[in-house]
Amino acid sequence: MPEPSAADWGDRYLQRLTPWDLGRAHPELVSRIESLGPPGRAVVPGAGYGHDARALADAGWRVTAIEFVPDLERDLGEAVGWAGDVVIGDALQWTPREPVDLVFDHTFFCAIPLRRRPEFGPWAESVLREGGTVASAVFPIGRSPRGGGPPFAMSAFDLADALGPRFDLVTETEARQPRGRSWPTRWAEFVRMPDSFVSPTGLRYLADAAATRSRPGRRWP
Ligand SMILES: C[S@@+](CC[C@H](N)C(=O)[O-])C[C@H]1O[C@@H](n2cnc3c(N)ncnc32)[C@H](O)[C@@H]1O
Repeated sequence: MPEPSAADWGDRYLQRLTPWDLGRAHPELVSRIESLGPPGRAVVPGAGYGHDARALADAGWRVTAIEFVPDLERDLGEAVGWAGDVVIGDALQWTPREPVDLVFDHTFFCAIPLRRRPEFGPWAESVLREGGTVASAVFPIGRSPRGGGPPFAMSAFDLADALGPRFDLVTETEARQPRGRSWPTRWAEFVRMPDSFVSPTGLRYLADAAATRSRPGRRWP
């Protein structure tokens, strides 16, 4: 499956060929959920059966779960609960009614065909409020890029590259490893810089960025 279509993903679920599915939320998300800040609005692109979306909803977040696969709508509706939304369609085309506080990626970025990765940064920037967070269970670490995909090889640097200068990497660290996964996972968090921190040439005011980095977890109003 070199570049799967929405229908290809749907077939995988129909045939229950879903080796990525942990059957529960990623353990690193569970352990960090409180530190993601006071619950606000979150979006989970490529949400699958919705385990991570459910964990966020249970922690008080209003979650929008986005999936290519219409058959997952019911699972996702149950996962996000009455306060959340389910969107069936291309996550990278979705725009919220109001900016969200958190984008949570877990095996979504690594499922995007490489030619579409450059869409991820402008999309994340368009959906997040200033000071909002992109948090990622970065997987698969150390997989050969020659292996194709999905999952396509991925590191926090690939995410940083796709997100561009409007995002500041504030956390990049080891993550709990779910059983049965062939490659390690890391955890990364990026903050969407306020527009005033970015010059028209794309250069950031680094002193200000460093000040925010020294206060992990700080959120702009
Ligand atoms: C590897 S699976 C991961 C599912 C879930 N995050 C998990 O960890 O169980 C990737 C998921 O992203 C969905 N997907 C891939 N590209 C998408 C896109 N552009 N928009 C919405 N969903 C997408 C697929 O249908 C699939 O369910």
